[in-house]
Amino acid sequence: MLMRELYRLIYLSHNEITGNSNCIHREIGDILAISRKLNADAGITGALMFNKNCFAQILEGAHHRIQETFERIQCDPRHSRVAILDFKPIQNRSFAHWSMAYVGQENLAAQEFMQIQKDSEFDMNRLTGETIFSLLRSHLYAAEQDNSCKV
Ligand SMILES: Cc1cc2nc3c(=O)[nH]c(=O)nc-3n(C[C@H](O)[C@H](O)[C@H](O)COP(=O)(O)O)c2cc1C
Repeated sequence: MLMRELYRLIYLSHNEITGNSNCIHREIGDILAISRKLNADAGITGALMFNKNCFAQILEGAHHRIQETFERIQCDPRHSRVAILDFKPIQNRSFAHWSMAYVGQENLAAQEFMQIQKDSEFDMNRLTGETIFSLLRSHLYAAEQDNSCKV
């Protein structure tokens, strides 16, 4: 049944958090704390990537749970121009260990993300869900293996 199936949603958005690095750090900390709590309750797993300009996020879980969560996320003034890249059924979770993994600006993946954005001339329409998915998955798996994932 559609509602019981696992889905994965991938989106990009523009950062609207301003201020110095302390302010940004605090806001991201707040986002992660609420995400991890509510996602755990809703059976959602995933990853959030941030650099100065953009967020990229992956949410995995039941269709209606993702919808409910994403409706709240979309209304959040800390970002804007939320663009869905992918929303499709999946066989298995790829981020099963994380209620919300985090890849921040200092991480190699976020730097690669910045380069990918530059290469696509910051045109969101030229970035695919697959690019975001591969980037986050490979970096989080590598970090998990060498146990150096900074959260
Ligand atoms: C980039 C970004 C990602 C977010 N990711 C999640 C998330 O994965 N799960 C979640 O419950 N809230 C997430 N939030 C926070 C929600 O927007 C919202 O503040 C939170 O769910 C609490 O909902 P409420 O303000 O309606 O009580 C995110 C916010 C931003 C800006």
